[in-house]
Amino acid sequence: MGALAADQPKCMTEISGHETILSRQLRQLVDIGITDAVITTVPFEDILISYVKGLDLPLNIKFVNNAEYRSTNYIYSIYCARALLDDDILMMHGDLVFENQVIDRVMEAERSVMIVSSTVPLPQKDFKAVVEGDRIVKVGIEFFDNALTAQPLYKILRDDWRAWLGNIIAYCERGERNCYAENALNEVTDACRIYTLDIFNQLCNEIDNPDDLAVVSTRLKELERRTVYINFATDILHSGHINLIRRAARFGRLIVGVLSDEAIASYKRFPMIPFDERKTLFETISGVYKVVEQRTTSLRENLEKYRPDYVVHGDDWVTSYQRPLRDETVAVLATYGGQLIEYPYSRGARYDAMDKRRRAEFSLPDMRRALLKKMLKVKKFVIASEVHNGLTGLLVERTVVHRDCESRQFDAMWLSSLCDSTAKGKPDIELVDLTSRLRTVEDVMEVTTKPIIFDGDTGGLKEHFAYTVRTLERMGVSMIIIEDKVGLKKNSLFGTEVEQTQDTIENFCEKIAVGKKAQKSNDFMICARIESLILECGLEDALKRAKAYVDAGADAIMIHSRKKDPSEIFAFLEAFRAENKFTPIVLVPTSFNSVKDEELKARGANIVIYANQLMRASFPAMKAAAESILINHRALECDEICMPFKEIIRLIPEED
Ligand code: SPV
Ligand code: MG
Repeated sequence: MGALAADQPKCMTEISGHETILSRQLRQLVDIGITDAVITTVPFEDILISYVKGLDLPLNIKFVNNAEYRSTNYIYSIYCARALLDDDILMMHGDLVFENQVIDRVMEAERSVMIVSSTVPLPQKDFKAVVEGDRIVKVGIEFFDNALTAQPLYKILRDDWRAWLGNIIAYCERGERNCYAENALNEVTDACRIYTLDIFNQLCNEIDNPDDLAVVSTRLKELERRTVYINFATDILHSGHINLIRRAARFGRLIVGVLSDEAIASYKRFPMIPFDERKTLFETISGVYKVVEQRTTSLRENLEKYRPDYVVHGDDWVTSYQRPLRDETVAVLATYGGQLIEYPYSRGARYDAMDKRRRAEFSLPDMRRALLKKMLKVKKFVIASEVHNGLTGLLVERTVVHRDCESRQFDAMWLSSLCDSTAKGKPDIELVDLTSRLRTVEDVMEVTTKPIIFDGDTGGLKEHFAYTVRTLERMGVSMIIIEDKVGLKKNSLFGTEVEQTQDTIENFCEKIAVGKKAQKSNDFMICARIESLILECGLEDALKRAKAYVDAGADAIMIHSRKKDPSEIFAFLEAFRAENKFTPIVLVPTSFNSVKDEELKARGANIVIYANQLMRASFPAMKAAAESILINHRALECDEICMPFKEIIRLIPEED
């Protein structure tokens, strides 16, 4: 090294603006979890020791001086340190510079290994390893046959090391101290079994002269420019995430893609912490180069934009429903030579416990109430299912289906008057009183966290309606829907087959205004349900009412129809949206059930309620079981349509 190492140890040579060979090596050791190191020193020991202390690394370092350095080689330095080395060891020369992935791979090796490269041409003067298969049988500078370029970076398991060290001791004690430690190794490779770890063109070079230094410095600059992409949908950060971030950051500048609220809501539960806050969370983690928004579950957009050299991801997507996302990622990376690195993924019990606690917060009234408005703001589209007791609540809470990388679940619950009444064997005519309806709400709330839309029938007298609003609001219900009918209310699906009277616009507007005035929070919503199409009063009447109700303060409009043909609903959506872009529109596609919810969304709807399907599905199943028992005088035959007994008793776990 000439002037570079004239007045300090070679390992203190600067290799970049902020690192020396030694500081880089030691930092890399700390990063992979090494806690104890031995440094053998030759001249300039004092300078070296004070330099290393100044680095202030969390490493317990012992220094061992080889006072005989003028007449010995490092075989003797090892001999001097022998008492400290009875363990699995990593061994490296002090002038070796390697990239993080090399040391990661060394650490992951389960056998004793030495770094070799099958692609770097054999050097004239430096180490080469003679190999048999993947086993190294000799190391030295003089071997050229069956040899690979080798670098003095080893991981040696204790038993192998004992064999090698034993021979090092024998060498030194009989006075052979001025040769390579590898001379001692070459006589014991039957007992010290070291395997090749081929790093191809990854960086692992000794710095012997200024030319080497220039090459390595340039390679390091390239490495520092590499980028790594990792994405997160989580709003709970735990040590597993931090470890993953640390590991990912070792591959280059780490770009964290934080999924947008919309992207998260599209495939899993609504995020508990909004995007901006989640972004800040990641920005504060050291090692993160920048945080960007990932707008879809697919990584494609960001990969094409940032072209990261690596994508780091948990290996869970290899077998999960997200497999197509992985395939797409691999394909996009292949277009520009990027690489996917996967780590074993486990959520762990602590994560599950934290997640459970956070979810439970949504069952608290303020949190739950606000959720529907947040969803409408972020997702713009919400699907709800009918619930009429705790069991149906649980079903809607937990049912998730996976298809094409997407997972789908209901966003909200509909406390249907029809189903609540039916479950009690009563007609849907406002006969089941509010106290009983609220009891059902309580039952559902007890076991769920999703927002609730309450079917408020006509809302009753406006003087009563004010109290209903306050009660529901206090309980944590997000929305009440009231329909513009008066007198004895009948279910809308009867249409004009029964006598039903629509309220006057003035009266109904007043009722809405009373409700809005009564509510205390900002996030409770009153939705005005228009029965003009049900009662065959025409589109014009429906539109006129919609406008009036919005002006009176309605937070949303529900338009109902009992026709199979969706055209009157489509016509309403088009005409209403031409005038009003933002007021949420609620639809209940019981009759026009051939239309998919995506289409209703595309036409301007914001909430789609599947209002009675769970109830309608359960009744025929129960009836069939009842008939089967009566017909057969026993329960054997109906068993095949029943859930196994073992499953029903485990269906609802006890709270811990
Ligand atoms: C309900 O589910 O109770 C409703 C919707 O109000 S409908 O039955 O279609 O009128
Ligand atoms: Mg109803």
